[in-house]
Amino acid sequence: MKHLAGYTMAPLVAAALMLASCGNNDNKTASTEKTDSAAAAKAGITRADWGETDGKKVALYTLTNKNGVQVKISNYGGTITSFLAPDKTGKIQNIVLGFDSLAGYLAKPPYFGATIGRYGNRIGNATFKLNGTAYKLAANNGKNHLHGGIKGFDKQVWDADATVDSVSSLTLHYVSKDGEEGYPGTLTVAVRFTLDDDNALQIDYTATTDKATVLNLTNHSYWNISGDAGNVILDEKLQLNADHYTPVDTSLITTGEIKAVKGTPFDFTTAEKIGARIGQVPGGYDHNFVLNRKDSSMQLAATVTDSISGRKLEVFTTEPGLQFYTGNFLDGTIKTPAGVAIQQHAALCLETQHYPDSPNKPNFPSVVLEPGKQYHTVTKYKISAQ
Ligand code: BGC
Repeated sequence: MKHLAGYTMAPLVAAALMLASCGNNDNKTASTEKTDSAAAAKAGITRADWGETDGKKVALYTLTNKNGVQVKISNYGGTITSFLAPDKTGKIQNIVLGFDSLAGYLAKPPYFGATIGRYGNRIGNATFKLNGTAYKLAANNGKNHLHGGIKGFDKQVWDADATVDSVSSLTLHYVSKDGEEGYPGTLTVAVRFTLDDDNALQIDYTATTDKATVLNLTNHSYWNISGDAGNVILDEKLQLNADHYTPVDTSLITTGEIKAVKGTPFDFTTAEKIGARIGQVPGGYDHNFVLNRKDSSMQLAATVTDSISGRKLEVFTTEPGLQFYTGNFLDGTIKTPAGVAIQQHAALCLETQHYPDSPNKPNFPSVVLEPGKQYHTVTKYKISAQ
């Protein structure tokens, strides 16, 4: 058994185990497992220097599986910068929005691919009360707090460990100081990204705190599974395992209501074209869906299909909610590395999470983490094509 950042890994066949540590200060290539096939020979993790910010080295890690699916992740913001996957003809394309240099991220794009913390989505009036104490958070979205504040986890340089076992994993670590962006408690976070040979990227989030706090970690990838960021996602089909959603007010703060989707444009209980009813949703979809679940086990939350490329994206999670966001605020000003203007609805986000503004909504599932307890959520993005 190998223990990594608090996890117990499955026993490994000794011959298959090649463990490489890729701390921030070295620039060596993590080992790859030796197998016969050409594709598998490239499977594993590599690390490349990717610049510097805040006086810290930034790296770009490339996780490759035996099918040639490749995910690039930076320790700047715990950011997925690209996700290369085959279409139905085997053509490999990038299916997430991202940049090929650190500069793109330092220009503060709207959270492309980033790990979001401490709190994914909004906290109304940037305040909440916990155990009788009122906390004032950084207001960075009008009077509200969004995605962890002015310098959330998406703008921090994380520490990294990369391992190649039977699967490739990259674990990023970050310690958020007591008071950071207004939150109580020193929070110690680990996010582990694992790419398996079923073409699924699993993200495990764990955290502990030394004082009661609130948290809601997620990943903010913008998916365009057509593989062409010049296409909008309105013709793609979405199915959500959600009979309810949480309506919002004009500043996108949840009202506290949990409303049935039946008979509304929010009904994706059977696969529907994303664009079919978007005109009936002012501003486009930017809503939290309440996932149908009996327990907190990992289950299918969302399926997106694109008929042209044949790609299918399935999202599995242990979380109670999912923010479906149709890139409403994208407006063509940001360009892809290939120079394509990223227009409105050029991509969609499926952010697995607790519901927005839960710290102020006692009827929503709790987002409080107490000292001595471990936060652990898991989300998996699986890509296939047919
Ligand atoms: C939010 C949107 C926001 C976007 C980018 C999404 O998670 O729900 O309202 O504009 O992130 O910040």
